[in-house]
Amino acid sequence: MDDDIIDVENLRMDYRIARRDGGFLKYILSRDYTVVQALKGVSFRISGGSLVGFVGPNGAGKSTAIKILCGILAPASGRVSVMGNDPFAKRRKNAAHIGVVFGQRSQLWWDLPIGDTFTLLKKIYKVKDADYTKNLDLFNNYLDLKSIWNQPVRQLSLGQRMRAEIAAAILHNPALLFLDEPTIGLDIVAKRQIREFVLTLNREYKTTVILTSHDLKDIEEICGRIILIDEGSIVVDCPTMELKDTYNKTSVVNVLFSNPFAGFTMAGVTGRPDLRGLKWSFEINKAVTSTGHFIAEITKVVEPKEIEIKERSVEDIVHDIMKK
Ligand SMILES: Nc1ncnc2c1ncn2[C@@H]1O[C@H](COP(=O)(O)OP(=O)(O)OP(=O)(O)O)[C@@H](O)[C@H]1O
Ligand SMILES: [Mg+2]
Repeated sequence: MDDDIIDVENLRMDYRIARRDGGFLKYILSRDYTVVQALKGVSFRISGGSLVGFVGPNGAGKSTAIKILCGILAPASGRVSVMGNDPFAKRRKNAAHIGVVFGQRSQLWWDLPIGDTFTLLKKIYKVKDADYTKNLDLFNNYLDLKSIWNQPVRQLSLGQRMRAEIAAAILHNPALLFLDEPTIGLDIVAKRQIREFVLTLNREYKTTVILTSHDLKDIEEICGRIILIDEGSIVVDCPTMELKDTYNKTSVVNVLFSNPFAGFTMAGVTGRPDLRGLKWSFEINKAVTSTGHFIAEITKVVEPKEIEIKERSVEDIVHDIMKK
């Protein structure tokens, strides 16, 4: 489509790892290496303004894909186009359109106070005064940068630093933002703050965001589309809502009883009690029966104190897919 800002076809990436078992000299001179196939022929397109989540287990190839899209790494083979350019060949041009945050490592100047960092970034990226003021307003409203303005990066808490990292990555209003584990290690308040900010950014500036996170709640709340990568291949690529419809074969009903409950047999239902038998968790196989039918049947036997119907989360669904 015309509005695709990322177009990736049959992307492969190999890392060569030298064998180290022959001493240092042999290590340097040796052509002996093993190859890790980090991406094994990955294809996708991403249209402008979308929010996409890269999901998958450790070592799946998510960060590798992001590094290729940013122009940090050249792929082994395949075609990559980011806003019409080959990101590796046109690294500098690409950099003007993208923002990147790697949650695992800082990209800010360690000893520089945040305020000075932004002044410097403004100069480097040639950000216009009006845009600068507007962005700082936005950052102060959503990321509370003011409170850390005079502190050097090395003094910041993880959450404070991550807010600064994200703000720094988008000061030049990139059309495309890569966030590789931006919420890693953050508390729920900080996570929520970042989620809200990303959504606002997308709404106000139409920024396209590609996000990786092991917190599937981040993905569920932010991303309209999920790309599940496993061992270098795409396993699932679909709208997040569709993932729920397609893979939600079961639902869970938690029931709290006034007295210990002995158990209950019904086709398509598996129950697990807590230690005292007061709280049971029932899994309903939707192919066999329905949640409504289950509740009707169990209330014939006993009157529950409380019933909680739990929709399976994206995390549950992804977990199931990965187990297969
Ligand atoms: N610089 C490198 N040199 C050698 N191998 C690498 C390098 N970077 C990544 N790999 C390997 O490539 C594979 C994919 O790694 P990648 O970092 O892309 O995974 P990931 O999906 O981001 O995982 P995580 O969720 O743990 O961040 C892994 O097997 C990893 O060991
Ligand atoms: Mg990674």
